Amino acid sequence: MANRRFNWGIIGPGRIAHQFADGLSVIEDAALYAVASSRLERAKAFAEQHAGEKTYDSYETLVNDPQVDAIYIATPHRFHFDNAMLCLKAGKPVLCEKPLTVNAAEAQQLIETARANNVFLMEALWTRYLPIYQQVRQWLEAKAIGDLRLLVSTFGINVPKDKEERWLNPELAGGTLLDMGVYPIAVSQWVMGQMPQSFSATAYLGKTGVDELTAATLKYENGVISQFSSNFISDNANEFLIYGSTGHIRIHANYWAATQATLVAQATLGAQATPGANEQTLTVSKPFRGGGFEYQIEEAMRCIRAGRLESPGMSQAHTLANMELMDKIRAEIGLKYPFEK
Ligand SMILES: NC(=O)c1ccc[n+]([C@@H]2O[C@H](COP(=O)([O-])OP(=O)(O)OC[C@H]3O[C@@H](n4cnc5c(N)ncnc54)[C@H](OP(=O)(O)O)[C@@H]3O)[C@@H](O)[C@H]2O)c1
Repeated sequence: MANRRFNWGIIGPGRIAHQFADGLSVIEDAALYAVASSRLERAKAFAEQHAGEKTYDSYETLVNDPQVDAIYIATPHRFHFDNAMLCLKAGKPVLCEKPLTVNAAEAQQLIETARANNVFLMEALWTRYLPIYQQVRQWLEAKAIGDLRLLVSTFGINVPKDKEERWLNPELAGGTLLDMGVYPIAVSQWVMGQMPQSFSATAYLGKTGVDELTAATLKYENGVISQFSSNFISDNANEFLIYGSTGHIRIHANYWAATQATLVAQATLGAQATPGANEQTLTVSKPFRGGGFEYQIEEAMRCIRAGRLESPGMSQAHTLANMELMDKIRAEIGLKYPFEK
């Protein structure tokens, strides 16, 4: 029997919410039911573009609509805590943009509230649900590159330098670590299945006081190291490389939105592989059905329909551990937001 249509609501129909709506559009048994914005005309324009049914000029009205099955939060990070708290207290399941919150204390409170109210809560770390990552997981589990040694990645994009925009604005929890650094931390955690034992970090803080470039080294047990950088001031290769004792895996650019990965290994890869002198190369493509968000949306729907309170793919414990690490990295690079003081 087909599932009843799943009604999504959106809080904060800005830039990234369009990618959510695109992902939603390829899911048969789900729809954009309602859009809430502080400016009704923005909600209306968004709903018109993406076939949304209802529009609201307040987030409260959205969370109190009994037809809404779950809410996607797409406001800047500074507001995630208040927005998610509003939803959770109203008993509405939440898929919240990354980072879940600005710091671990906020994340902890949200998780406790979700549990106390028996409501689903998930950080929208969409990368972990992309089909190519399943391929990478298979290679890792098959030990296709031997023992893990080193992870190397960059996430660098020249962003607009408008001080009011969320990227550089400390009042909106701007800075590259929370915005982009959350990806290499979450992907490293996904590869390693654990948190680092130690780290070092350095950053360039720009005129507004937020980190415009952060570079960090995470050290795991058995000496495995993940080196990453995130920055707003240069366009980078944006690949994620996983080096092992007998080969490496390259998650192609942009790795957080990847559809391709390449395995270079000493072991034989079978008929599909391109033969080299001592190693073989295999590139696999897994194109998206829509804009790429459809996989995390489907996962959230699966979990909510099954009565789960979180997704095993991006568990609340993983989110919390990452927030704790980002708190520590921020302490190391001297970045505290004005509203945290
Ligand atoms: N997963 C990804 O690939 C990805 C990519 C980009 C961003 N993100 C995440 O998505 C979130 C939103 O980013 P975005 O670039 O889409 O945001 P945005 O376009 O700047 O803003 C989205 C919405 O947030 C509210 N908002 C913006 N600035 C505000 C302010 N100063 N005060 C109060 N409300 C404000 C507005 O909601 P109203 O319409 O209600 O006023 C706006 O429509 C961030 O947390 C970011 O990390 C994720």
